[in-house]
Amino acid sequence: MRTPKKKLYIRTYGCQMNVADSEQLALVLDSDYELTDRPEEADLYLINTCAIRRKSVEKVLSLLGRLKALKRRRPEMLLGVGGCVAQQEGQQLLRQAPHLDLVFGTHGIYRLPDLLAKQRQTGRRLVDTAFAAEMPYLCGPRPAGAVQKLVTIMQGCDNYCTYCVVPYVRGPERSRPAADIIAEVAAFVSQGGQEVTLLGQNVNSYGRGLPEAVSFPELLRRLAAFGGLARLRFTTSHPRDLSEDLMNCFAELPPLCEHIHLPVQAGSDGVLARMRRGYTQKDYLTKVERLRQVCPDIAISTDLIVGFPGESEADFQETLTLMRAAAFDSAFYFKYSPRPQTEAATYAEQVPEAVKTERLARLKEVQEQLSLASNQRLVGGVREVLVEGFSKQHNGQLTGRLRSNHVVNFDGPAELIGRLVQVHVTTAHRHSLGALLCGGQFGDQFLAASRQDHRRIPC
Ligand code: 5AD
Ligand code: SF4
Repeated sequence: MRTPKKKLYIRTYGCQMNVADSEQLALVLDSDYELTDRPEEADLYLINTCAIRRKSVEKVLSLLGRLKALKRRRPEMLLGVGGCVAQQEGQQLLRQAPHLDLVFGTHGIYRLPDLLAKQRQTGRRLVDTAFAAEMPYLCGPRPAGAVQKLVTIMQGCDNYCTYCVVPYVRGPERSRPAADIIAEVAAFVSQGGQEVTLLGQNVNSYGRGLPEAVSFPELLRRLAAFGGLARLRFTTSHPRDLSEDLMNCFAELPPLCEHIHLPVQAGSDGVLARMRRGYTQKDYLTKVERLRQVCPDIAISTDLIVGFPGESEADFQETLTLMRAAAFDSAFYFKYSPRPQTEAATYAEQVPEAVKTERLARLKEVQEQLSLASNQRLVGGVREVLVEGFSKQHNGQLTGRLRSNHVVNFDGPAELIGRLVQVHVTTAHRHSLGALLCGGQFGDQFLAASRQDHRRIPC
């Protein structure tokens, strides 16, 4: 008789890349462990961490503190920390948290079964933060009901923006062979998957160093050629490397959703140069204009940092000017946070915390107006939604995303979760839209039509 599998609980912090890594962790350990969503019954408790800002690290340390009590109650439970904080802190984490058993870095995922075996044999607390030349990727079966999938197409980053810890904690850029990506997406689509998001720190440089030279636009064309894939997305794209060829894909490839996340970070040319971003405000706005010419429906989101070392009030005003000129549909914005090993952490003229706080509030105000305007432009139209589940904020309503990535909430039955439906957009808020389901009982008459034309179907 087979011994029953042990229980694995994974707590994931950070970006979509970390979510995808946690899926890999579960697959790597699948022969011995099954996932649980109840931490108190875990035999192995893993924390997959993010180090992008100091706050992200503090969250991990605070969770580790809270887990002392659980470990005291269940000393047989193994506790491990993986990902970017683990990579950065290594041995230091074992010193900080005496109840921690394992530390494994961003490249340690695939060696975790060996690390666990060694831990079992020796009973010692272990650290593995070595980088690997090759990273295998595992493809598992589609989890029941999942219609969206994150697919990692590359790891690491060679850009060394002066504020960013990623190249240090994730290592150099490596692309995954196109054939493997295509096989993973094909399997997902054949099992009923609807939406794939391709992940990489800078997808525009996908393909460098691969034996078969495949550019990112070429990869998109190959994936878009599958029948049956309704939605294709990607993140993140570096503005410097956004090519005309890639922009044209938005006009040419029906499954490619009309949304691009294009982190600008700042508006002042001086700050952009000191961030080592490789473009000016004008270069960026020219690309935004071109994207909107090629694909008038495209939604553009961005990331912004306030209070980068040396940022003056005039520099900050340039950021607000750029935001208005680009008319971003949505944005994530952060106070600059000095990170270990990065160049900007050593710069003189660090901006006081109070100034960062005040600038962040002003920036938020501007973006909230832009986001509201973006949402208002959609009111009265009919759009396709991929229904993701029930909304936490909007009691009992279904929630999903338009192809443009706008969030929409509407009344409807649970049977629609995981399906593409058409809605009539009725109301605009700052962070979401309200809508009514189109057509008959479930708007079903629109489903077939929406597969042929993903853009717009009259109600
Ligand atoms: N401080 C603040 N924000 C940062 N980001 C990256 N590094 C830092 C930092 N040191 C932001 C950037 C990036 C996003 C993922 O996080 O805006 O695009
Ligand atoms: Fe960080 Fe710059 Fe690489 Fe993005 S491109 S991960 S901001 S170093």
